[in-house]
Amino acid sequence: MRSTLSLAETQATLLLREVPAAQASRPAPAGKPPLVSPRTLDAQGNLVLVPARDWTSGFFPGYLWLLSEATGHASWQAPARAYTANIEGEKTNGTTHDMGFKVYCSFGTGYRYTQDPAYKEVLLASARTLSTRFNPVIGAIRSWDHHQDVWGFPVIIDNMLNLELLFAATRLSGDSSFYKIAVQHANTTLRNHFRPDYSTYHVVDYSPANGAVVTRTTHQGAAPESAWARGQGWALYGYTMCYRETGNPAYLAQAERVADYLLRHPNLPADGVPYWDFNAPNIPNEPRDASAGAVMASALYELSTYSQQGAAYRAQADKTLASLAQNYAAPAGTNHGFLLLHSTGSKPAGSEIDVPLSYADYYFMEALVRQQHLAAGREVVAGARVVGAKSKP
Ligand code: GLY
Repeated sequence: MRSTLSLAETQATLLLREVPAAQASRPAPAGKPPLVSPRTLDAQGNLVLVPARDWTSGFFPGYLWLLSEATGHASWQAPARAYTANIEGEKTNGTTHDMGFKVYCSFGTGYRYTQDPAYKEVLLASARTLSTRFNPVIGAIRSWDHHQDVWGFPVIIDNMLNLELLFAATRLSGDSSFYKIAVQHANTTLRNHFRPDYSTYHVVDYSPANGAVVTRTTHQGAAPESAWARGQGWALYGYTMCYRETGNPAYLAQAERVADYLLRHPNLPADGVPYWDFNAPNIPNEPRDASAGAVMASALYELSTYSQQGAAYRAQADKTLASLAQNYAAPAGTNHGFLLLHSTGSKPAGSEIDVPLSYADYYFMEALVRQQHLAAGREVVAGARVVGAKSKP
């Protein structure tokens, strides 16, 4: 992986030049918030930047923290700190569930390296804001505020990733309320999001009046009953992380069932990088989703440390990571500095198909750091903490 890290450094150097250039040449329109983080490329190949409120804003800063660890080069920490600072205002943005993606991947990952008390305060403020979206009747955190004409209380499987911020907040503050919300959300999702084969729905809509499930459907997948690839990755990552944080064997069992569903799926390509949906209609002539492959690889490394099937999970993660490094990496000096090609954001929306995505690079680098740790006989890293003792309040 040395050559991959060298490529990653070349690309990150380029991206750090390209972002200010794009900010200068295509700034946010007057009255709109500044564009602070790279997300993808548009159809013309231009770099797409996003404001802090975008769900992807935390990945580039988090990537730089991870790159610093993976390479052992502290020089990445100054830009990591600068791009992390841009996200701070999100700590009071209660209009979305994406707080974990935005703030935990940036400030949380940075806290692991810096132990900066100011970062801790941002994490706690963010957790308090995210908690305001919890509905005790439903036992879940509301995901989206859009589509209010269609959904009363939508919860998407992606939301599992935001729980990591809440677990961290309890550990950092001693306030168990965050932990309790995270556990209730994980339990509600475990009950309602999964099919008998342990694939997951993308969206479950609940009645705010009585907490009943109203609809199970999709937003980014091929069909309501299909298995959207990144969603399966979020489920795998989410329950692996919940087991780490709670020690609840039900979460470990769920993570293993999801892993087994994915690894045995006839539509999982031999290189371990899924098509954008396991039930996409024209497989094998469908775009891949490298981001889903990267999320799954990172989760499988962690799961391998808890499971009796650990050797198989680690082998699968190794294979996927090698495929991504060998066959999905951008040539040096291209793609404005992104590392991985061939991800899919939302195929049904015709958006971000077969492109680089900042979160593909983030989870790839996290997987690579986890691989390094396992190879050295150390525990895998995770957000603001190195995996260790269980963290019940
Ligand atoms: N959380 C949004 C996505 O995975 O596309």
